[in-house]
Amino acid sequence: MNIVYHQRTKTFHLYNDTLSYIMCVLENGHLGQLYCGRAIHDKEDFSYLLEKMPRPMSSYLYEGDRTFSLENIKQEYPVYGSTDYRHPAVEILQENGSRIMDFQYESHTITGGKPALAGLPATYTESDEEAATLQVTLRDKVTGIRLELLYTVFAEGGILARSARFVNEGTAPVHILNAMSLSLDLPDKDYVWMQLSGAWARERHVKNRPLEQGILAIDSMRGHSSHHHNPFMVLKRPSATEDSGTVLGFSLIYSGNFRIQAEVDTYDVTRITAGINPSCFDWKLEAGESFQTPEAVMVYSEEGLNGMSQTFHHLYQKRLARGYWRDRPRPILNNNWEATYFDFTEDRLVEIASKAKECGVELFVLDDGWFGARCSDRAGLGDWVANRDRLPQGISGLAERIEALGMKFGLWFEPEMVNKDSDLFRAHPDWILQTPDRSVSHGRYQYVLDFSRPEVVDGIYQMMAKILSESKISYIKWDMNRSITECYSAALPGDRQGEVFHRYILGLYDLYERLTSAFPHILFESCASGGARFDPGLLYYAPQGWASDDSDAVERLKIQYGTSMCYPISCIGSHVSVAPNHQVFRNTPLHTRANVAYFGTFGYELDLNKLTDEEIAQVKEQIQFMKEYRKILQFGTFYRLKSPFEGNETVWMTVSEDKKTALVGWYRVLNGVNMPYTRVRLQGLDPDLVYENVLSGTRHYGDELMHVGLITSDATSGEVVGDAKPSMDFDSRIYVLKAADEQ
Ligand code: GLA
Repeated sequence: MNIVYHQRTKTFHLYNDTLSYIMCVLENGHLGQLYCGRAIHDKEDFSYLLEKMPRPMSSYLYEGDRTFSLENIKQEYPVYGSTDYRHPAVEILQENGSRIMDFQYESHTITGGKPALAGLPATYTESDEEAATLQVTLRDKVTGIRLELLYTVFAEGGILARSARFVNEGTAPVHILNAMSLSLDLPDKDYVWMQLSGAWARERHVKNRPLEQGILAIDSMRGHSSHHHNPFMVLKRPSATEDSGTVLGFSLIYSGNFRIQAEVDTYDVTRITAGINPSCFDWKLEAGESFQTPEAVMVYSEEGLNGMSQTFHHLYQKRLARGYWRDRPRPILNNNWEATYFDFTEDRLVEIASKAKECGVELFVLDDGWFGARCSDRAGLGDWVANRDRLPQGISGLAERIEALGMKFGLWFEPEMVNKDSDLFRAHPDWILQTPDRSVSHGRYQYVLDFSRPEVVDGIYQMMAKILSESKISYIKWDMNRSITECYSAALPGDRQGEVFHRYILGLYDLYERLTSAFPHILFESCASGGARFDPGLLYYAPQGWASDDSDAVERLKIQYGTSMCYPISCIGSHVSVAPNHQVFRNTPLHTRANVAYFGTFGYELDLNKLTDEEIAQVKEQIQFMKEYRKILQFGTFYRLKSPFEGNETVWMTVSEDKKTALVGWYRVLNGVNMPYTRVRLQGLDPDLVYENVLSGTRHYGDELMHVGLITSDATSGEVVGDAKPSMDFDSRIYVLKAADEQ
């Protein structure tokens, strides 16, 4: 890994074994983009890549010259209005009404490692050898604004992290209306755009479209990253597959309103931009103030989607997630939400926990309904004190009882919200986001606290810290169950209201930072009506997230398959729930529910007392299995082999670091009869090792399993004789493959 600057040609080359990223200072002082792709040799001069033919209808910067038009030059952080007509990376409104900016190169520094971004989550390094960072400083002479563009290239994997910082070194305030984290001009449009989109209970479904002239974008204006679109996008060459070909992944480390966009211009140049959504954004920057954008991460892979995902998994698991739980296998938990909803007593909870303990569960989690007047979703949010009618001994008493069973205890919070029927709202009706003289809309009967105000965040911190210090709490589920409306803060003047959405997220990050630092051993799981804030921003604070409120095993195949495109398996909250399922009312076999949930954090979302003895025996085996293999399941190298979006079967697998153990998850939605024989070619094994298939006892070389395939045919490949039912709908298997000398 290195960053080289060639003085004569003013060219920067950031590279490692996988990636080269080349830029230069253009003759107008702006940064030009020369190349982003597979690693190539360094040399002094790549200026032939600047193609500047005169074009009809273009406008040009220099008198008497018909070559220099920003419209026709690939750039790094473009502005609009001075010959470029595409969507810009930055837009700044000045006091005189002008929006023209002219950021010219001033200086640069190259350092080892990676600086932190004040108040924002970001990837990090643990030594200066892990990455190198280039900071290019540019300045707009008229306003005096200094722009610092940060580029970090990591030593391993085709990873480039970017962000921008503005410092107003002028004398007048300005309004930043758009400040992208990343902008990149690619020389052609020969890509398929892939996004992870959906809705509540069907988050992060994989959707593909070819690029074409015009604009393709995903975004959120809901105040959180959303169920609807994840802040992640892939451009893949049409020939790229899961295992091969060129793929570029873009991920924004941010939990609020975002936009990721590709604009293909009339000459097929593709401009990617990713950052805070410019809609509803207006940040007033007074003289002397600075503004830092969130970080965007680009991953370049020549090894298809799996190669890209593995790079993201490793980076986000090791250098975005932090703290005590980062590298630790996650406790198997039992959450009471689908078991009781709001209808529970202390004894009932202990009854559920006792059965869970008997089965081997390690952590009991009390979900919504334990505080204030919270007997339904109409009251109590904001009052983070135990409801003594339900919990006579408070949270500390219940926690003691759970700990006495030999389990850890976890608790649900929804810190950002308030019901009008709550003591908090009665005391501070002005603490919610609401626009003067307008009605204020609710979501699930609740209102959003104004987290842009430090005193509001502090008030919630005090309540939460009290409970956490008084009781033995090992885990927190942090929920957020509505989108923001009438976004307006009573604490800010009119010309700063465009800051509220972002300030809210900064307040959220601040609360997370304070709580995770004060209680470093607590495992935080993020949640937002399932997966509405399943984003890299929160992964920095909470190493796992509840992937979806849809706990049906078949639905989960798509959700978890899509999620794995960017996010490591160790962070995907996945539980076994009852059949018929509470969301889709489908009956899936217990083994399939577990076989899907194993590829995640694993737990139970039901009352185990209601299961038959036969089922309890199965649950005990499942828990034992998870305990034995969770390190590999959660932290191994993960491969998607067959997509639930393309057929009746889904297959994925994970391989241990030493390649001596692999687990293959095989899932079939509908049963068949007299079907073709099936096999699946595995990935990532050691070709020279002999693996024993623990299920069948057969032995095969790694190369056989990877090139011939693992035989997955079963009784469906044949005739069903008489009444015999050889297999079932929603069937699945986990194949455990162990290097033969490991037996
Ligand atoms: C959200 C969460 C659920 C549960 C409920 C409680 O919907 O996603 O898991 O915690 O809130 O109200």
